[in-house]
Amino acid sequence: MSNRPSHIAIIMDGNGRWAESRGKTRSHGHEQGAESVRIITSYCANHPDIDRLSLYAFSTENWKRPKLEVEFLMKLLEKYLKNERKNYLEGNIRFEPIGDLSLFSKSLRKVIDDLQNVTQGCNGLVQSLALNYGSRDEIVRAVNALFPHTPITVELLNNALDCPHNIDLLIRTGGDHRLSNFLLWQAAYAELFFTNTLWPEFTTDELESIIKKFKTVERRFGGLN
Ligand code: IPE
Ligand code: IPE
Ligand code: MG
Repeated sequence: MSNRPSHIAIIMDGNGRWAESRGKTRSHGHEQGAESVRIITSYCANHPDIDRLSLYAFSTENWKRPKLEVEFLMKLLEKYLKNERKNYLEGNIRFEPIGDLSLFSKSLRKVIDDLQNVTQGCNGLVQSLALNYGSRDEIVRAVNALFPHTPITVELLNNALDCPHNIDLLIRTGGDHRLSNFLLWQAAYAELFFTNTLWPEFTTDELESIIKKFKTVERRFGGLN
């Protein structure tokens, strides 16, 4: 029996470095990164074993970047969600954002809400985009939502999270070996894969080869085999 990569999470890192190494602006790297999102999502939607794809698009810490870069990312996100509507519907892909959306502009929130509503009936892949997402923020919001419920159990807290789904396979592109505040709770027993490939260059072939390795790993969950 091989492992099923039911829930794959990806920390999509390296857009800026990819562009800078080509003498281009960081913005160009983000545009190319959006293209990779489209390609990888479509691959996962057509993969029989993948039910959920969680993609880290904008962290609670990414507001620290220069104002112009943040503004560009917001515009790109809005454009992407608008342009991709047809592909979500044709691919039977349900869009489920996670993160604190209250900090986004009204117009961006509307685009996010619209896409979530219009894809609500899709029952293929769930694509969960992490937007203004930080794992610590998610846990704090969940605990506040549960208060004054006592005692707070693991199950209660889990179900109060934006993403109450364990990750099977977590991938980070861009060469760093850290989680950067992404799905800390959900990654408790995830298999971790790190690749030096920069996100705009990440291909379905590389994803396929990671899934192949993942399938052969012995997952023990603390038990013995
Ligand atoms: C990831 O790429 C995308 C976001 C965090 C929005 P980066 O923008 O972090 O690219 P690098 O790491 O600077 O190359
Ligand atoms: C992680 O990448 C966040 C996203 C991919 C959205 P960062 O580039 O923000 O992470 P650090 O700063 O290198 O940890
Ligand atoms: Mg980065």
